[in-house]
Amino acid sequence: METYIGPDPALSVARPGNVRLSIRDVEAFYGKIQALRGVSLDVHEGEIVTLLGSNGAGKSTTLKTVSGLVRAQRGDVQLEGASISKLAAHEIARRGVVHVPEGRHILRGLTVKENLELGAFTVKDSAVRRQRLNEVYELFPILHERRHQDGSLLSGGQQQMLAMGRALMHGPSVMLLDEPSMGLAPKLVTDIMRIIKRLNEAGTTILLVEQNARLALRLAHYAYVIENGTIRMQGEAARLREDESIVKAYLGMGD
Ligand SMILES: Nc1ncnc2c1ncn2[C@@H]1O[C@H](COP(=O)(O)OP(=O)(O)O)[C@@H](O)[C@H]1O
Ligand SMILES: [Mg+2]
Repeated sequence: METYIGPDPALSVARPGNVRLSIRDVEAFYGKIQALRGVSLDVHEGEIVTLLGSNGAGKSTTLKTVSGLVRAQRGDVQLEGASISKLAAHEIARRGVVHVPEGRHILRGLTVKENLELGAFTVKDSAVRRQRLNEVYELFPILHERRHQDGSLLSGGQQQMLAMGRALMHGPSVMLLDEPSMGLAPKLVTDIMRIIKRLNEAGTTILLVEQNARLALRLAHYAYVIENGTIRMQGEAARLREDESIVKAYLGMGD
């Protein structure tokens, strides 16, 4: 699409809280393919921000430039005003920014419990690790029930829970969630969304990538729409959700 649509100043508003995470004019490439063409977005403290867009728009790449899996060739990523774009991925995780990737990446041959313990590699204190494990089991009782089973034998929804649980073992202050609803039955999608809300209410700042716009707009405070590696629109989630033409034109599928 040639026309430049947004960001629409009418839809963008002053947001409460300090900026926790700031992505500034980021460009990223895979070899010669440019995936991000100057992406800028902010996530304020305590928010759920959703990044929406169709397949191939650059959503996952945006998350990867934050967590250090892909290097921004230009632009910057800042955590509370300090640049993190040159740090190694484990260093970024150590600072409390934790990525739950698309596809979950559960390790075969490790039990559920071992997968979770792997998430706590940044945590030195074993008492803290034990406490986190208990918190994860409380949030996802099914993971406790299945703790001695091979993680790769879990159902899709349970694997999503395991991936989220593993991220929580870091004790993140910012979570980057890549399409947590993907491939899940509606009941499980509802469960996962409820848990995301609960984590947010407990103080975790969240950047949520979704193809399912309607779902994400119900949960998020603020939303950005990415198209072809560029942010095309932004605004309060409630405002974007009300505008059926926006949902139809930019957000495709929905439901
Ligand atoms: N590993 C890769 N190698 C080459 N191109 C890639 C790779 N990953 C993503 N891309 C390309 O970068 C663009 C953005 O991809 P991605 O960020 O995965 O989009 P989304 O998550 O929105 O579906 C797409 O054109 C995609 O084909
Ligand atoms: Mg993706």
